[in-house]
Order: sequence, then C-alpha cells, then structure tokens
Amino acid sequence: MRDYENRDGVMLFGGMKVTDIADEFGTPVYVTDEKRLRENYRNVHNAFSKHMETKVHYACKANTNLTILKILEQEGSCIDAVSLGEVMTCLKAGFAPDRIIYTGNNVSNKELSAVAGLGVMINVDSVSELERLSKLSDGNKALPISFRITPGVGSGHNAKVVTGSTGSKFGIPEKDVIKTYLRAKELGFDPRGIHVHIGSGGRSSEPFMDAMEVLIRFTNELKEKGIELEFIDMGGGIGVPYRPNEPEMDVDELAADLTGMILEETDIKKILLEPGRYIVCDTTVLLTRCVDVKDAGIKKYVGVDAGFNTLIRPAMYDSYHHIALGNKFGKACTAKYDVVGPICESGDCLARDRVLPDPEEGDVVVIYDAGAYGFAMSSNYNSRPLCREVLVNDGKAELIRDSEKIEEQWIHQRIPERLIG
Ligand SMILES: Cc1ncc(COP(=O)(O)O)c(C=O)c1O
Repeated sequence: MRDYENRDGVMLFGGMKVTDIADEFGTPVYVTDEKRLRENYRNVHNAFSKHMETKVHYACKANTNLTILKILEQEGSCIDAVSLGEVMTCLKAGFAPDRIIYTGNNVSNKELSAVAGLGVMINVDSVSELERLSKLSDGNKALPISFRITPGVGSGHNAKVVTGSTGSKFGIPEKDVIKTYLRAKELGFDPRGIHVHIGSGGRSSEPFMDAMEVLIRFTNELKEKGIELEFIDMGGGIGVPYRPNEPEMDVDELAADLTGMILEETDIKKILLEPGRYIVCDTTVLLTRCVDVKDAGIKKYVGVDAGFNTLIRPAMYDSYHHIALGNKFGKACTAKYDVVGPICESGDCLARDRVLPDPEEGDVVVIYDAGAYGFAMSSNYNSRPLCREVLVNDGKAELIRDSEKIEEQWIHQRIPERLIG
C-alpha cells in the first residue's frame, strides 16, 4: 500500500488535493496517477528484461480505460486480451495486432473467427478450440498460435481467482499437452509458445517457480518431438499489498529466479508476462463522499455514494481496500465504522470495522488501490450510472471518462408495441 503526502490535513494524490478533485469532478470518481502507471510498467519490464528478451503483455481485463491503454502503448507494452471487446478496445487505443495475445476460455466460433480475422495471436485453451480454429481459419495456418496449459499449480487472493490447479476449466490438461501440440502441427499450425496463468493476486513466488518447472518440462519434451517454441508465457498474477505494512513481492528476485530457470534449462530466449493488477492497482483511488452517518447501536456506519456497483471486490471476494478520510488525513481516529454504499443489499459493504476520524456528511472518503478490477467490474445494478474517471499528472487533472446518464441505460431496451398506448 502506498503512503500519501498530507498537505494541511488533506491527502495529496498525483500532486493534487483529493478534496479539489472531488469538488471539480463530483463523486464517486476513479482517479489515476499517470506517473505511477508509467513507473509500474517500467519496474516489471526492467526487472525481467535485464536477464532476457521480455514482452510485458498488460492484462487489460484489469482496467480497459482507453487513456490508460494509450499510456501503456506509449511505454511499449503489449496486451493480453480475453474477449473480442478487449481486442477491439486495444486496437482502438493504438496497439498493433502483433502486440496482442488473445487468451479466451469457452470461446464461441463467432468470437474465434472475429479475433482470428484481426490477426492477433491466439492462445488456444482447449482441444475443441484448436479443431474449431482450424476449420474457421479457412486454411490460414500462418495464424500465430500458442497454448494455455493447466500446470496443476494454482495461486490467488481468493479461491474464485485461482485458475491453474488440476481440473481447472482453464487450459489444456497436462495429460493432453504433448498430443495437442502434435495435433496442431498435423493441422498445419506452427505453435510459437506455451502459456500458464496460475491465478491472480497470489503473494508467494513459490507457485510461479513450480509452474515454471512444468512449462520447462513441456518445452523440452516438445523439442525432443521436433516442436521448437519461441517463448514461454508466465501469465499474470503478481500480487500487490492492499493492507498497511504488508510487504511487496520482490519482483526483481522473481524475475531473476524465473529467467534463470529458463536460461539454464531450455533454449528459450524470450519470456512473456501478463501482469494486470501489478501495473494498475496502486495507480488509482476511488473517491466517494460521505452522505450519511448512522449509529445503529451495536454498529456505526459511514454511508457513501459508491456501492458494490462501483467497486465490487469487497462484496465479491471479501477483499480489503484501505480507507481514509481525505479531508481529515492523519487526524486521530475516534471509533470503528463499516463503510457502506447505496445498494439495496446488506452485502453492500466496502469496508468493515475501520477506525476513522469522526466521519461527517460531506467528508471525502478515499478508497485505496482501486485501479485493478475496480471500474472494469463496475455495473449498473440498482440502475445506477457508471461513474467518471479522471487522470492526474503533476498537479493537473483531466477527465478520461464521463459518467453515464441514466437515460443511456434505456438505449438498447425495447418495449413491445402491443404494451404501449
Ligand atoms: C490469462 C490471464 N493473464 C493475466 C491475468 C492477469 O492477472 P493479474 O491481474 O493478477 O496480474 C489474468 C487474470 O485473470 C488472466 O486470466
């Protein structure tokens, strides 16, 4: 978790007082610090590229805002996309197709043909997908492909985001890996790489090493069978600290260990990574405003104008997000509160039992580390419009997404004629 500067009792973010941002743009609003975004990308890229050729494919599912994508495009990032929508969004942001890998899961033929038609590399997830791709690609076997395998190693901040364990719905099961590559060759494809994604937000390096051993074993076995791969793709999943005083994962050490294994044990010269959370998580805070304070006897509540429609991680994964009052920053805390939103469900709780400094209506409530799977997972539940996003850089703020209008939620709905009039 990052520490923020305090100016006259107000939290500073990207060189601006959070109170000024909330006043100018309204709340709730996601606010992203451009400088931090660039730094995070460079940290992970430099950690690996000093050992071997490295391509960082930012996992854009974490945050698909076009401005954020554009900044990463400028930094030289590549993309991991999981849907046609993500691929098209990244093309729109300026990424060339050869900088994008598409890793779908349970992909329809319609989506598969559309993605294949855009010329991006397809990271095939099942034997069924391979056979369908062969038929759909109209003999275009020059299409770059790779395979996602299930390494039998999982990791993650919550069981819902562990993806690499044996029996997972993701990837080619270990028992089928070699025959799937051989089948791809038989169909005329030239597989370029091998991929795993063990899960998201794990905080130990051990599962990465274990999964790398599996990747290396298959890479070498494939070579013996005459299939020489160009790259190993380690996927995403680097965890970040959400709580105060939680240590960061040592990315330099992880990079040295993983690349060391590849260079010592294989002929592979190129590593791909797909970090999402690591790149965007701590770049962004969600600013909300306290609209209500309630003492319910056995519990005290701070009611804010963001709910699980705006940030679903606490409700969905019991995730911790640190919270501070931006306009009473560093003030002594008075009591414990649950921070709750306007959604009509008792699960609409952003934080439980937090000590806060005498919250009052109008306070700016800052929710930390909201850049990954924050806005991207927000919804219209309770017919609440999606909120604004703002970029800050060196003390200046720019709107990068306007809020939705309530009327826009009706655009695609139709009331049958017979019910009108
Ligand atoms: C295939 C793939 N790659 C990368 C990621 C990014 O994971 P993280 O944000 O934890 O780095 C995900 C997340 O679900 C994924 O499914």
